[in-house]
Amino acid sequence: MAHRTLFLLPGDGIGPEAMNEVRKLITYMNDELGAGFETDEGMVGGCAYDAHGAAISEADMEKATAADAVLFGAVGGPKWDSVPYDVRPEAGLLRLRKDLELFANLRPAICYPALAKSSSLKPEVVEGLDILIIRELTGGVYFGEPKEIIDLGNGQKRAIDTQVYDTYEIERIAGVAFDLARTRNNKVCSMEKRNVMKSGVLWNDVVTAYHKAHHSDVELTHMLADAGGMQLVRWPKQFDVIVTDNLFGDMLSDVAAMLTGSLGMLPSASLGAPDGKTGKRKALYEPVHGSAPDIAGQGKANPIAMIASFAMCLRYSFEMIAEADRLEKAIANVLDKGIRTPDIAEKGAPTVSTVEMGDAILAE
Ligand code: NAI
Ligand code: MG
Repeated sequence: MAHRTLFLLPGDGIGPEAMNEVRKLITYMNDELGAGFETDEGMVGGCAYDAHGAAISEADMEKATAADAVLFGAVGGPKWDSVPYDVRPEAGLLRLRKDLELFANLRPAICYPALAKSSSLKPEVVEGLDILIIRELTGGVYFGEPKEIIDLGNGQKRAIDTQVYDTYEIERIAGVAFDLARTRNNKVCSMEKRNVMKSGVLWNDVVTAYHKAHHSDVELTHMLADAGGMQLVRWPKQFDVIVTDNLFGDMLSDVAAMLTGSLGMLPSASLGAPDGKTGKRKALYEPVHGSAPDIAGQGKANPIAMIASFAMCLRYSFEMIAEADRLEKAIANVLDKGIRTPDIAEKGAPTVSTVEMGDAILAE
């Protein structure tokens, strides 16, 4: 039997509620499909701080590093709003991203047919939408040095953030985009601001050269990131895979998220470089949403974002493509049947609980 190790970090708020629904799927896959998942579980975020004064313990970091994949729920909540900065709940997630070198953030924007009609946008614009935004996650202006606020002494201050990208960082994120495009519709659109930023010039040059050398079978286009934002709203179906830097990717993926409905529907994956020996990438899968303290503990959370994150895990960490397709189809079928948690229900329509939604997907 295959050995596939999963490290579960449910976290705070609705994180554990959503993770419970994934646990049912793992049990089913082990018992009925012989999937051979071995799971272990740790603590991250506020619960980890309460237990041992850190947002994630060293022991759990070791387990996360050793596992084939990490499934992450959500962290944070008002209870921990005033804990020291370096042990705040988010520090656990940032530590995982940094130590596992998860440089590629994958954010799909999929609009399920059953939800297209209730979207705040025109149904013809979003129906059947299926795009993948790939954001560089460990470089760029969020991390570049110098990064400081200088007191100029005359009542004025100066804030400095620095955008830095090296060739290898652009090549490896472009490589992820081209590889994934081949498993989809073979189209990549790279976005930067080469008209005003040196990092945009280098980004464009490196993506173009890397494409020519290794992936010329994939269709490559370039777009200025601001125009890209406009096109995402105007006609998103023109895109398949979008690859962009950390800052633009942060914004563009949030824009794309709103094309698809609730935060409760959005999965994500963060991948590292392939291991030199095994070829396996370190990976963490998490819903886009946070710990939703306003609905935590009430059975109102939509588990689909977490379940769809698990589907990404099957696809990208274990090459269980048929199983991933089947799970995504199960989600679509449940939505087609009109089964809705409160966040995706029409006003006044009947709703189901977190557990009932998980059960319905499992049954499909
Ligand atoms: P949030 O994503 O937790 O919630 C925003 C709104 O969306 C809330 O009204 C919530 O009820 C709703 N919502 C979110 N997920 C849902 C789901 N699965 N089903 C139904 N409704 C859902 O963001 P917010 O309120 O800004 O942050 C709450 C806490 O979560 C904060 O402590 C924040 O720091 C943390 N956070 C953690 C993240 C993570 O763990 N990756 C990401 C974002 C926020
Ligand atoms: Mg963002």
